[in-house]
Amino acid sequence: MPSIAYLYTMPFLQKHDSLIQKNKGYTMFAKEHISYEAIGLPDRVDYSDVQVVAEAKAFYKRMKTRHTVRDFIDRPIPRSTIEDCIRTAGTAPSGANHQPWHFVAVSNPELKHKIRLAAEEEERRFYDGGASDEWIKALEPIGTNADKPHLDIAPWLILVFAQKWGEFDDGTRYKNYYVPESVGIATGFLLAALHHAGLSTLTHTPNPMKFLNVLFDRPKSEKPTMIIAVGHPAPHATVPKVAKYKKPLTEIATIAE
Ligand SMILES: Cc1cc2nc3c(=O)[nH]c(=O)nc-3n(C[C@H](O)[C@H](O)[C@H](O)COP(=O)(O)O)c2cc1C
Repeated sequence: MPSIAYLYTMPFLQKHDSLIQKNKGYTMFAKEHISYEAIGLPDRVDYSDVQVVAEAKAFYKRMKTRHTVRDFIDRPIPRSTIEDCIRTAGTAPSGANHQPWHFVAVSNPELKHKIRLAAEEEERRFYDGGASDEWIKALEPIGTNADKPHLDIAPWLILVFAQKWGEFDDGTRYKNYYVPESVGIATGFLLAALHHAGLSTLTHTPNPMKFLNVLFDRPKSEKPTMIIAVGHPAPHATVPKVAKYKKPLTEIATIAE
């Protein structure tokens, strides 16, 4: 893991507490309240077999129209919509129900621009020798480079943080389990929710992303995993042709009946 000292040489990376609305800590992890209690299954779905078949097909049909978009317009999206999609992410399953994620939603132009400056600096490092030749070659059909105008233009950026450990209400640490798996599932829920709402996304992963901890004053326990740009696609938006190729079922699944 490279030192992050160099981040503090980026002058635009000082914290902007006045621009960040932090939620007051709510914890379900009050140490003395941890015990098992069963309740009847809530929200039971009772579809007929025919409905089950139809719903699965309909969801597939909807999800296969999702595309990673790299050109956005600045058409605004209500904060409440972003919050609802993050709420959906928060319903994801997680190891021991620890919900080891935190989402930072940014629409403030000044902050988005700072993210862009820092991300482009990391991306230049990546494309100018930081990445292996094999990695650069793998990205060729996707057509990406170090310029990230979408970080300014998309109306919202959702930053995903994975919490390596948490804290009980008394300040002592607890371990989180299956963190990458849990955060990956929650992020999948988030992307599906945004798509379902008719919005486009770009999953962006400048490497490393420690600058996000500095900029948003996130604790050491949190590792930034993704920047998700959210918006409406530009009229001229294109997608790489290869992105339309998805492995067929026979390749991604083995069925043992
Ligand atoms: C973990 C992850 C990291 C990604 N990082 C980037 C990225 O840094 N820049 C980018 O343009 N696309 C990135 N993508 C998007 C992929 O290139 C895209 O999902 C893939 O080409 C398939 O296209 P589709 O999403 O339209 O199906 C990332 C996707 C994932 C899941």
